Amino acid sequence: MFQEKIDLANENMIVTPWVVSGEIDYDKLIQQFGTEPITEALLERIKKHTGDLHLQLRRRIFFSHRDLNWILDMYEKGERFYLYTGRGPSGGVHIGHVVPWLFTKYLQDKFGAKLYFQLTDDEKFFITPEMSKEKALSLSYENALDVIAVGFDPKKTKLISDMKNAKVMYNIAIDVAKHVTASTAKAVFGFTDSSNIGIIFFPSMQAAPCFVESVFEKKNVPCLIPAAIDQDPYWRIARDVAPKLGYYKPAQIHSRFLPGLGKGGKMSSSMPETCIFTVDSPKVAEKKIMNAFTGGRSTVEEQRKLGADPSICTVYDYERLMFESDDEKLIELERLCKTGQILCGECKQILAERVKEFLIEHQKRREKAKDLVESYFLQS
Ligand code: TRP
Repeated sequence: MFQEKIDLANENMIVTPWVVSGEIDYDKLIQQFGTEPITEALLERIKKHTGDLHLQLRRRIFFSHRDLNWILDMYEKGERFYLYTGRGPSGGVHIGHVVPWLFTKYLQDKFGAKLYFQLTDDEKFFITPEMSKEKALSLSYENALDVIAVGFDPKKTKLISDMKNAKVMYNIAIDVAKHVTASTAKAVFGFTDSSNIGIIFFPSMQAAPCFVESVFEKKNVPCLIPAAIDQDPYWRIARDVAPKLGYYKPAQIHSRFLPGLGKGGKMSSSMPETCIFTVDSPKVAEKKIMNAFTGGRSTVEEQRKLGADPSICTVYDYERLMFESDDEKLIELERLCKTGQILCGECKQILAERVKEFLIEHQKRREKAKDLVESYFLQS
């Protein structure tokens, strides 16, 4: 189905909204997608407003952007932007999904920004043969609990389910769809004649929230989208259409893909042993971490003598992405690892404790969210 797209990339790097595989070269992605790298100068500029830099910025988990300088220009002139991000509810939420949401919360807190969070139940219904509409919609509600549990400002956050909020979304989507030809959609997403027509229309549904605040406010409002870079094709379409509809082009800040606990690849719900679900019991999570892939040696003696390799270690990755916020401590951990002064078992134990603590708190907030979930969704 996505052959055209695959041929554009180099043999071992495939990046589309539905397929990410092979060795990812992020500099090459910036070039191929025509985005801008996040530079030191841009970080300094962000810091002027935020006071501090989120670890995902300091560590370049968010590494690329489109029009972020413009968003800041507007902000400095007093024109506030809103945030838009989302998730395709294909199953349970795992810790890898939560990572960019934590960053989105930081942006919301620091810039006082409104957030629209889209749950694309329609997309999952179209692309997953065994997914029923009922299941897709119920997953939107399930996943919404996790979004709420992250702690977004209830006064400034709205969830959108494409199925539940179909009226609002559809009416913006048709404006978009009118300006996107089948050949553009094919070229950008790799659709073929055997793709169902629902998924061919779907990119206009994902573009709709780029303009939703402008529609509600009846004036142009700048939009910033934090998302993994595989979602960029959608924003290319949205940016192309925006001026034709009289809207601002949505700006983006792109993240890398997040690794799973298994060797290589990202955390994948289809391999449950490689991801920690937000509803996993602390015990189950601990067990998964104790079985995680690390950069360790095969014997203790060897590791003491030669050290291990944090660059391929999934346990180290999760410290870097989420759990160790102190840069100096992270560097120290890396040193201890490379010099064989800390063993994988110890690192796993430290991470397991942190993950367990996170899960207990998250699950409490998730439970409370059950009473609130309806009020977070758009009411139209
Ligand atoms: N298509 C995305 C997915 O399958 C979900 C999504 C919708 C999204 N809108 C978004 C992701 C905006 C990031 C930003 O996960």
